[in-house]
Amino acid sequence: MIKLLVTGASSQVGSALCARALTQGMSVVWFDDDILNSLDASVIETAISKHQPSYVINTASYSVVDKAQTNPQDCYRDNHDVAQVLAQACHALSLPLLHLSTDYVFSGEQQQPYKEEAETNPVNHFGSAKLAAENVIRDQCAAHIILRVGWIFSAQGNNFVLRTLRQLQHQKHVKAVADQYGCPTYANDVARVLIAIIKQLSCGIDVWGTYHYSGAEIATWKGFAEAILAAAKTHGATQADVIESVSSEEWPTTAPRPAYSVLDCSKLLATFGIRQRPWRSGLVKVIAQVFKQSE
Ligand SMILES: NC(=O)c1ccc[n+]([C@@H]2O[C@H](COP(=O)([O-])OP(=O)(O)OC[C@H]3O[C@@H](n4cnc5c(N)ncnc54)[C@H](OP(=O)(O)O)[C@@H]3O)[C@@H](O)[C@H]2O)c1
Repeated sequence: MIKLLVTGASSQVGSALCARALTQGMSVVWFDDDILNSLDASVIETAISKHQPSYVINTASYSVVDKAQTNPQDCYRDNHDVAQVLAQACHALSLPLLHLSTDYVFSGEQQQPYKEEAETNPVNHFGSAKLAAENVIRDQCAAHIILRVGWIFSAQGNNFVLRTLRQLQHQKHVKAVADQYGCPTYANDVARVLIAIIKQLSCGIDVWGTYHYSGAEIATWKGFAEAILAAAKTHGATQADVIESVSSEEWPTTAPRPAYSVLDCSKLLATFGIRQRPWRSGLVKVIAQVFKQSE
């Protein structure tokens, strides 16, 4: 039986992954994440080896982008340093490491979807720390999969869908940035992709490396917010009726964001046969789940 050891199991992606793995007949170990903070590869190696997993999947991350801008050292420790010791431990145990990274490793200056080999040049501390994590994993653990994702949403945690939904319910005026482009991605779809990759790795294919996944259809934050509004309206009234446009300039954030961070996901399709799912179908499920929870 395939056994997954998941770090950050309470994250949006981690919890979706654990739930899905169990339905697929895999067993899951919810790793004690405090052990990661020892930042001692041999301590982590001992803790991992007790569970004898088939794969280690790292979904733990300091992922609050604005907070990272004022706490770069914490962000670097939780992203790079944790990835480094995990990579060292996995290499020592000859275990494959699957790791999640971000579209924010790119500068956003490109006008077409970023391929895996495109030049990286992060514009904020979060992106820099995640890029450093990627590099140390490539360096220290040959048997790795790095999956870059972006704009993750689910019915839990602190994400754009939940924040926008709260605003729509309590405010008459809701604004969203209309000049940043990306692809919203349902956390359950990332879990589906990770499971599909793991199943194929378990057949012994040698396809280590970096891949991109996002939901299908490019959007701006404003377009995404409009879809959230439309889905929310099917469940009842909202205070706001339209989404107002703002530019990045009019809406300064602590951390700058890339203006365009669309990922080209064709390598994932060519290698594993995994297609992008439309994020809109995931959004409808998430909104329904949130309204059900609040009944
Ligand atoms: N959210 C996005 O839009 C987005 C975009 C691009 C890439 N990603 C990447 O996708 C992955 C999953 O993201 P997500 O949104 O599902 O994550 P998330 O919901 O923000 O959860 C992050 C998890 O990491 C844990 N964590 C943070 N620092 C830790 C440390 N030093 N030691 C142990 N655990 C630690 C957190 O634990 P606590 O709750 O206890 O702090 C939490 O469970 C991450 O690698 C993230 O960088 C996410």
